[in-house]
Amino acid sequence: MIVRIANLLDASTLVLMREKLAAAVWEDGRRTAGGEAVKVKQNEQLTEKHPLAIELGERVLNALAQSKQFTSAALPLKVFPPLFNRYTGGGHFGAHIDTAVRLSDQPPYRVRTDLSATLFLAEPDSYDGGELVIEDTYGVHSLKLPAGHLLLYPATSLHEVRPVTRGARLASFFWVQSMVRDDDNRRLLYEMDRALMQLRELHPAGHPTLVRLTGTYHNLLRKWSDL
Ligand code: NI
Repeated sequence: MIVRIANLLDASTLVLMREKLAAAVWEDGRRTAGGEAVKVKQNEQLTEKHPLAIELGERVLNALAQSKQFTSAALPLKVFPPLFNRYTGGGHFGAHIDTAVRLSDQPPYRVRTDLSATLFLAEPDSYDGGELVIEDTYGVHSLKLPAGHLLLYPATSLHEVRPVTRGARLASFFWVQSMVRDDDNRRLLYEMDRALMQLRELHPAGHPTLVRLTGTYHNLLRKWSDL
């Protein structure tokens, strides 16, 4: 399941983040790439120990905590600290699948990467190329979202970032370990939750069937979640 979450960050936060990121000293992205990925990766990064990544990552985590759509779609158990990347001058990241387990060392914990997330920070018309191309069971999707929008996709999917031929593609990226490991089960719960929200709007005074359906949602979550 690929989910777009619109306006996770507002315009003033984006301006502030872009200013701070423009003044940062970036690192070669190949430093953190695994065995296969290092051959296809050409970008710059701020990794989790960089003070600016910590500062801006906190803002991203706060925005995620307030997003009902993120909670509903990801059912997060753990989130890897958000990192930041920049692609310029032909920079790209060829087709790869993300590492299955990431280790964060402050504090030490492991995150099984069920979902990959890209938070777009540059407006699409400020750079050419840089599409995130994701292959899933429904085909190939080429995505370039407005600044402030978040894309969630299965970490199991083969994906790439196309070369940036003008301007700079700035993004935050991170991984989520979900309470519900299976992507199909998570999708069913997300669809059911969205339908329940619509039903609650249609029946503001409540309805006995809504009580049963909400209970079924929770019983499925109980059945499928690992904590
Ligand atoms: Ni990736």
